[in-house]
Amino acid sequence: MIHAHITSWVLALILFFVALSLHKGGKAKGAKIVQMILRVLYLLIIATGIGLLAKLNGIGNITPMYWLKAVVGLWIIGLFEMILGRVANQRRVSAFWIQFVVAFLLVLYLGFVQLPMSFLSP
Ligand code: HEM
Repeated sequence: MIHAHITSWVLALILFFVALSLHKGGKAKGAKIVQMILRVLYLLIIATGIGLLAKLNGIGNITPMYWLKAVVGLWIIGLFEMILGRVANQRRVSAFWIQFVVAFLLVLYLGFVQLPMSFLSP
């Protein structure tokens, strides 16, 4: 489950930058197609994230750190959409890029450092 989770968000990250560069290159149609695939990946990220939470055997075992991890994960998905939408409409995105960097560093810290499950453990 953790491998599926990581694979989903790594792929999403790659497609996000592909969609951005297509927008920058003026290929709006290509960007739209990539964004549709990206949206399917959001569902996979969320489904695998919920799958990982389900491993904790009961909602009472989901500590505040896990809730924070889930919320920051959803925040990143929201930012993918906001940034792509605003780039498509040629609106300012700098405030969203700052959030993106903060949220991404936070999610990596929470996922890899703070929370116990790991892709390294069998
Ligand atoms: C783009 C969004 C997301 C990113 C970049 C992300 C990133 C990560 C990372 C780096 C880990 C640690 C993997 C490891 O330790 O091997 C992880 C684990 C996890 N993620 Fe996400 N995640 C995202 C979205 C979500 C969402 C939406 C949820 C909940 C619905 C979620 C729930 C979890 C859970 C429960 C774990 C296991 C935590 C642990 O015990 O280590 N994630 N995620």
